[in-house]
Amino acid sequence: MSTMIKMVRSFAAVAAVAIATPVFAAGDAPHIERQQWSFSGPFGFYDRGQLQRGFKIYREVCSSCHSLKQVAFRNLASDGGPGFTEEQAKQIASEYTVIDGPNDDGDMYERPGILADKFPSPFPNEEAARASNGGAYPPDFSLLAKARAAHRGFPWFVFDAFTQYQEQGPDYIYALLTGYEEEEVPDGVTIPEGKYFNHSFLAGPAIGMAPPLSEELVEYTDGTPMTVEQYAHDVAAFMMWAAEPHLEERKKIGFRVMIFLIVFAGMLYFTKKKLWRNVEH
Ligand code: HEC
Repeated sequence: MSTMIKMVRSFAAVAAVAIATPVFAAGDAPHIERQQWSFSGPFGFYDRGQLQRGFKIYREVCSSCHSLKQVAFRNLASDGGPGFTEEQAKQIASEYTVIDGPNDDGDMYERPGILADKFPSPFPNEEAARASNGGAYPPDFSLLAKARAAHRGFPWFVFDAFTQYQEQGPDYIYALLTGYEEEEVPDGVTIPEGKYFNHSFLAGPAIGMAPPLSEELVEYTDGTPMTVEQYAHDVAAFMMWAAEPHLEERKKIGFRVMIFLIVFAGMLYFTKKKLWRNVEH
């Protein structure tokens, strides 16, 4: 009997810790709010206009520090992407300078980009990137939207599995880009010289990136508001596409597979009924 009581007690203790954990965790982890994205849910798709605007922001603002090594210019014109025509993608590529070589003399040389080239990086190596950014390394954008997610804690991660919540990355990027509020630095927090306060930064609260966005920084010609919030949404969507260029295809296939499985299950049911029709049970 006493072993029973011990077991119940230890179970109760474990349960109590499990329930209490989110309360403790909530204090440390930044709270990341969920945003509306066209690419969420089973019918998700990228908004072409948004990807083009996001690319513009990347090109005019972020690319001076962040590389995009895994993305090639031809991807800009591929299906499920920002929807540039091949001509436009060629034009964009030719505006970049890439280093090629070696030539017959063994020297590297510069030439305009072509569709097959990947985006050239702003710094020749990580050391150079750190040296220009006060020791902090601006991470490559190719997979960043898939590589960052705030810890959601119990019980949220259980619900997330059912609601198919997969937008933690862009939600975090949005929160980070809109998370610079100097006047909110809490008491007892000191931000070192050359760092900035950001209440959403996962490794924070001091980040080595100055606020990259400000109102009307990038010119939109389609009437979309030129606000920090809009820019943050657009560039986060672009980064999501860079990290998952085949998202639309994946979701379409997933949907077809579900339909197939439902039809198939129905067929199996009627086959079973027919086969066993004359057997008493
Ligand atoms: C002047 C250089 C510079 C520019 C421009 C810049 N960044 Fe950064 N960024 C950095 C540095 C440096 C870090 C690393 C910060 C650290 O680790 O403290 C960083 C980190 C990040 C991170 C990762 C944060 C994390 O959780 O590790 C994201 C996301 C990011 N930048 C997005 C952007 C976007 C989007 C833009 C363009 C709108 C941009 N950055 C423009 C320098 C820059």
